[in-house]
Amino acid sequence: MKLSDSMANAINDQIKAEFDSAYIYLAMSAYFKDAGLDGMSHWMDKQYKEEVEHAEKFIAYLYERGVRVVIPEISKPKESYNDALDVFKTAYNHEQYVTSRIYKLVDMASAEKDYATMSMLKWFVDEQMEEEDNTGSIVAKLEFLGNDKHAVYIVDRELAAR
Ligand code: FEO
Repeated sequence: MKLSDSMANAINDQIKAEFDSAYIYLAMSAYFKDAGLDGMSHWMDKQYKEEVEHAEKFIAYLYERGVRVVIPEISKPKESYNDALDVFKTAYNHEQYVTSRIYKLVDMASAEKDYATMSMLKWFVDEQMEEEDNTGSIVAKLEFLGNDKHAVYIVDRELAAR
Protein backbone atom coordinates (compact mmCIF):
# COMPACT_ATOMS: atom_id res chain seq x y z
CA MET A 1 0.00 0.00 0.00
CA LYS A 2 1.38 3.37 -1.01
CA LEU A 3 1.89 5.98 1.71
CA SER A 4 -0.66 8.79 1.24
CA ASP A 5 0.61 12.23 0.27
CA SER A 6 -0.85 13.72 3.46
CA MET A 7 0.95 11.12 5.63
CA ALA A 8 4.22 11.61 3.70
CA ASN A 9 3.98 15.39 4.19
CA ALA A 10 3.18 15.01 7.89
CA ILE A 11 6.22 12.74 8.40
CA ASN A 12 8.42 15.15 6.46
CA ASP A 13 7.18 17.92 8.83
CA GLN A 14 8.06 15.68 11.78
CA ILE A 15 11.59 15.26 10.42
CA LYS A 16 11.93 19.04 10.70
CA ALA A 17 10.45 18.97 14.22
CA GLU A 18 13.05 16.38 15.28
CA PHE A 19 15.94 18.40 13.84
CA ASP A 20 14.51 21.53 15.52
CA SER A 21 14.47 19.57 18.80
CA ALA A 22 18.08 18.52 18.22
CA TYR A 23 19.11 22.16 17.75
CA ILE A 24 17.17 23.29 20.82
CA TYR A 25 19.11 20.74 22.93
CA LEU A 26 22.42 21.58 21.29
CA ALA A 27 21.84 25.25 22.22
CA MET A 28 20.96 24.17 25.78
CA SER A 29 24.18 22.13 25.89
CA ALA A 30 26.15 25.23 24.80
CA TYR A 31 24.34 27.34 27.43
CA PHE A 32 25.35 24.91 30.19
CA LYS A 33 28.91 24.62 28.92
CA ASP A 34 29.23 28.40 29.09
CA ALA A 35 27.84 28.32 32.65
CA GLY A 36 30.49 25.76 33.71
CA LEU A 37 27.85 23.04 34.22
CA ASP A 38 29.59 20.22 32.35
CA GLY A 39 27.24 17.45 33.55
CA MET A 40 24.13 19.25 32.29
CA SER A 41 25.93 20.17 29.08
CA HIS A 42 26.83 16.51 28.55
CA TRP A 43 23.22 15.41 29.24
CA MET A 44 21.90 17.89 26.68
CA ASP A 45 24.53 16.82 24.13
CA LYS A 46 23.29 13.22 24.46
CA GLN A 47 19.74 14.49 24.03
CA TYR A 48 20.79 16.40 20.90
CA LYS A 49 22.21 13.21 19.42
CA GLU A 50 19.07 11.24 20.30
CA GLU A 51 16.94 13.78 18.45
CA VAL A 52 19.11 13.42 15.36
CA GLU A 53 18.51 9.66 15.62
CA HIS A 54 14.75 10.31 15.80
CA ALA A 55 14.93 12.36 12.59
CA GLU A 56 16.98 9.58 10.98
CA LYS A 57 14.37 6.98 11.96
CA PHE A 58 11.67 8.96 10.15
CA ILE A 59 13.98 9.46 7.15
CA ALA A 60 14.67 5.71 7.00
CA TYR A 61 10.93 5.02 7.14
CA LEU A 62 10.19 7.34 4.22
CA TYR A 63 13.05 5.74 2.25
CA GLU A 64 11.57 2.33 3.00
CA ARG A 65 8.17 3.50 1.73
CA GLY A 66 9.72 4.96 -1.44
CA VAL A 67 8.84 8.54 -0.51
CA ARG A 68 10.89 11.62 -1.37
CA VAL A 69 12.51 13.02 1.78
CA VAL A 70 12.60 16.81 2.05
CA ILE A 71 15.66 17.89 4.06
CA PRO A 72 14.33 20.79 6.15
CA GLU A 73 15.59 24.18 7.17
CA ILE A 74 16.32 24.13 10.91
CA SER A 75 14.91 26.93 13.09
CA LYS A 76 17.30 29.00 15.20
CA PRO A 77 16.97 27.90 18.84
CA LYS A 78 16.67 30.14 21.90
CA GLU A 79 20.07 30.93 23.42
CA SER A 80 19.50 32.37 26.87
CA TYR A 81 17.67 31.13 29.94
CA ASN A 82 17.13 32.33 33.51
CA ASP A 83 18.74 29.30 35.13
CA ALA A 84 19.07 25.50 34.92
CA LEU A 85 15.51 24.97 36.14
CA ASP A 86 14.22 27.23 33.36
CA VAL A 87 16.16 25.15 30.80
CA PHE A 88 14.75 21.82 32.02
CA LYS A 89 11.21 23.23 32.33
CA THR A 90 11.52 24.37 28.71
CA ALA A 91 12.78 20.92 27.69
CA TYR A 92 9.91 19.24 29.55
CA ASN A 93 7.32 21.50 27.90
CA HIS A 94 8.97 20.88 24.55
CA GLU A 95 8.74 17.10 24.98
CA GLN A 96 5.02 17.43 25.81
CA TYR A 97 4.62 19.38 22.58
CA VAL A 98 6.49 16.67 20.62
CA THR A 99 4.25 14.01 22.20
CA SER A 100 1.18 15.90 21.00
CA ARG A 101 2.68 15.94 17.49
CA ILE A 102 3.32 12.18 17.58
CA TYR A 103 -0.24 11.54 18.78
CA LYS A 104 -1.57 13.60 15.84
CA LEU A 105 0.45 11.40 13.47
CA VAL A 106 -1.02 8.29 15.12
CA ASP A 107 -4.54 9.76 14.75
CA MET A 108 -3.88 10.47 11.09
CA ALA A 109 -2.45 7.00 10.41
CA SER A 110 -5.37 5.41 12.26
CA ALA A 111 -7.95 7.41 10.26
CA GLU A 112 -6.24 6.27 7.05
CA LYS A 113 -6.04 2.64 8.25
CA ASP A 114 -2.28 2.94 7.61
CA TYR A 115 -1.22 0.09 9.89
CA ALA A 116 2.43 0.15 8.82
CA THR A 117 2.82 3.79 9.90
CA MET A 118 0.94 3.09 13.14
CA SER A 119 3.37 0.26 13.86
CA MET A 120 6.39 2.48 13.15
CA LEU A 121 4.95 5.22 15.39
CA LYS A 122 4.54 2.86 18.34
CA TRP A 123 8.29 3.23 19.03
CA PHE A 124 7.88 7.01 19.18
CA VAL A 125 4.85 6.81 21.50
CA ASP A 126 6.97 4.78 23.96
CA GLU A 127 10.00 7.02 23.48
CA GLN A 128 7.97 10.15 24.23
CA MET A 129 6.77 8.69 27.51
CA GLU A 130 10.42 8.17 28.47
CA GLU A 131 11.51 11.62 27.27
CA GLU A 132 8.77 13.37 29.27
CA ASP A 133 9.71 11.31 32.32
CA ASN A 134 13.44 12.11 31.94
CA THR A 135 13.01 15.88 31.66
CA GLY A 136 10.12 16.04 34.14
CA SER A 137 12.05 14.19 36.82
CA ILE A 138 15.01 16.59 36.52
CA VAL A 139 12.61 19.52 36.98
CA ALA A 140 11.10 17.78 40.02
CA LYS A 141 14.55 17.09 41.50
CA LEU A 142 15.76 20.68 41.12
CA GLU A 143 12.55 21.95 42.69
CA PHE A 144 12.72 19.41 45.53
CA LEU A 145 16.31 20.40 46.32
CA GLY A 146 15.32 24.07 46.44
CA ASN A 147 16.80 25.17 43.10
CA ASP A 148 19.75 26.91 44.74
CA LYS A 149 23.45 26.62 43.75
CA HIS A 150 23.89 23.51 45.88
CA ALA A 151 20.94 21.80 44.14
CA VAL A 152 22.27 22.69 40.70
CA TYR A 153 25.72 21.35 41.69
CA ILE A 154 24.28 18.01 42.85
CA VAL A 155 22.10 17.53 39.76
CA ASP A 156 24.94 18.61 37.46
CA ARG A 157 27.16 15.88 38.92
CA GLU A 158 24.39 13.32 38.57
CA LEU A 159 23.66 14.20 34.93
CA ALA A 160 27.34 13.74 34.00
CA ALA A 161 26.70 9.98 34.25
CA ARG A 162 24.19 9.82 31.41
FE1 FEO B 1 12.31 13.37 19.36
FE2 FEO B 1 12.54 14.38 22.26
O1 FEO B 1 11.47 13.82 20.87
